[in-house]
Order: sequence, then C-alpha cells, then structure tokens
Amino acid sequence: MAEPKEKKDIICVCTGTTKQKIIQLIENGATDIDKIASATGATTGCASCDVSIIELIDEHANVN
Ligand code: FES
Repeated sequence: MAEPKEKKDIICVCTGTTKQKIIQLIENGATDIDKIASATGATTGCASCDVSIIELIDEHANVN
C-alpha cells in the first residue's frame, strides 16, 4: 500500500506541514525557526519537529 506523497512528507504532524512547504518558505527567506513557526504553526504543538526543521534550514538556507 503506497502512502500518498503528501502524507509521507509531513514534517510536523501537529499542523500537517509538509517538507515541501517548509523548503519553499526557507527559499523565500524564512531562514529561522520562528519565521517558519509563525507561517505554518509548526513547532507550536508538541515541538518534536524542531530538529527536522532546523536540519532543513541548514540544508536549504544560503547563509553566507
Ligand atoms: S510535530 Fe510539529 S509541533 Fe508537533
């Protein structure tokens, strides 16, 4: 049974925020966790998605 792609890519289960959504926000300048939290609500529930979001920021933000 294949999971729908959307569901598989959810980073924050509390808010249903997908990996794609978070990457899109990072690429649009939301390069810290507070900006992502205010845009999506991610991390404002159980906060167990914190680490995953920080990793995505590290991977996708162009910090020079
Ligand atoms: S998984 Fe993101 S706040 Fe719970």
